[in-house]
Amino acid sequence: MFVFQSLLTFLLTTLVFYVIKFRWSRRRLYELAAKLPGDNGVPLLGILHKLAIAKREDYMDIVLSYIRNDTPITRVWLGPFLVVATKAPEVMHAVFNSPQCYDKPSIFYGSLFFTEGLIPLSGKTHERHRKIFNKAFTPKRLQELYGIIKDRAEVCVKKLEPRVNQEEFDVYYYIGACSLESFGAANLNFHDDLYGHEMLPYADAGFAIGMKRIQQPWLNNEFIFRNSKISKEFDYMMVLVQEYVSKVVNYNNQLTIETNGANKVDKVIDLLLDPKHDFTDQEILDEMIVFALTSFDSTAKTLSSGLLMLAMHQDIQQKLINEIDSICGTEKELTFDNDFLQRFTYLDLIVKETIRLFPAGPIVARETSDEIDICGYKIPKKTIMVMSIFAMQRDPKYWGDDAHLYRPERFENLENPQAYLPFTGGKRMCIGYRYAMIVMKTFLINFFRNYKIDTTLKYEDLKLEMSLVLTILNRYMISIKKR
Ligand code: HEM
Repeated sequence: MFVFQSLLTFLLTTLVFYVIKFRWSRRRLYELAAKLPGDNGVPLLGILHKLAIAKREDYMDIVLSYIRNDTPITRVWLGPFLVVATKAPEVMHAVFNSPQCYDKPSIFYGSLFFTEGLIPLSGKTHERHRKIFNKAFTPKRLQELYGIIKDRAEVCVKKLEPRVNQEEFDVYYYIGACSLESFGAANLNFHDDLYGHEMLPYADAGFAIGMKRIQQPWLNNEFIFRNSKISKEFDYMMVLVQEYVSKVVNYNNQLTIETNGANKVDKVIDLLLDPKHDFTDQEILDEMIVFALTSFDSTAKTLSSGLLMLAMHQDIQQKLINEIDSICGTEKELTFDNDFLQRFTYLDLIVKETIRLFPAGPIVARETSDEIDICGYKIPKKTIMVMSIFAMQRDPKYWGDDAHLYRPERFENLENPQAYLPFTGGKRMCIGYRYAMIVMKTFLINFFRNYKIDTTLKYEDLKLEMSLVLTILNRYMISIKKR
């Protein structure tokens, strides 16, 4: 009994000692945090428990409920992590352009598994990778991809033909697969008409696991994760992904031998396999996963949301069809390039309005590497800055009383362009935004030259889910008719 009591006293004393030491080392954080407007939530947990048990479809509403209208920033606690949330453009611009806010918080981005890829990387390593891959997305480089992108769009539009005059279906499953295949063809030299459909369910499962680890941060601990139910699912998925990556790498290495290096033109895959960049096998794998995931789902969900909006807004759809017909006429062989796409001014408004209401990255985060003044607030070192692009791009303060409505014309004359950041800003903004715009516009032109669409879904009934990529839970249900 005495031994037990002594042991208990020792353990309790040690625990109290470490808690005091922990809190003392963070006294400056607590001092500054107390001065920020916000909500302490439950002691020790803050709002962690609410997010951990939230259903996926409620997660976004809970996060948004903590972002206030009366102050540009709001403080909350996620267990021991101080979070400062915002939907104010002035705060976001300051964060995106600040060297002290360059890094990503591992509590969110460490959950993504591919730790050696652009999205979760921090500091100098991120800067090095980014400098290399920027070369793959310059306007000059992209000019060479128009042909492949157009061919892939045509293949995708053809694949939809069996759906003509059939009942409503979820168009995402076509567009998601096509988007994966298009990225493979244009950036990895990998031409395969089937692998998109094969890989799509695993990509979906990967996103679900990533989201679970964000909601329940303890799953980022390797031991806990390995003993959880989702670990087996993850291992199975990774075997398939690795097989696919090996196939792409082997194919490209063989191509380089056969063409004596003449195939290399600074595509993503060329940069990855270039010996002078000295990427490790893990980096090659992780960057391939980052590029495949960031490119395919954001583009596919944006395109699918756009189609759903056009199916719901027949007048806007007709205006787009008129523009496409007036520029393309009955010409069969069109040349797609920058000048050609620039002529589609109404299409441009449609794409912009779609990404305003349905930003694929609805929330992004950064971690402060030092104490920093942002818009008059002193933010402590190691604060997680959470920015809701979604809330900002729907805020009536910047977009007027009809902010929630789909109205592409609003982009003809923007009063508050600073409140539009769908690809974010600064040195970490989306690397593929120009490429994404080309892919989406090329697809929509080809699609509406062939089809018109309808839906029974109602705009006001839509329910959104903040998975890693913003998703419409009612799904992207449309019916297709031949034009
Ligand atoms: C409509 C389509 C797209 C949207 C809305 C979108 C949006 C975003 C957003 C919000 C971020 C986070 C930026 C930040 O943390 O500040 C991001 C990052 C990124 N995106 Fe995109 N994206 C799209 C398409 C693409 C495509 C097609 C590619 C690849 C070709 C791509 C590659 C990336 C990469 C690699 C990053 C990480 C950049 C870094 O941390 O340096 N994205 N994107």
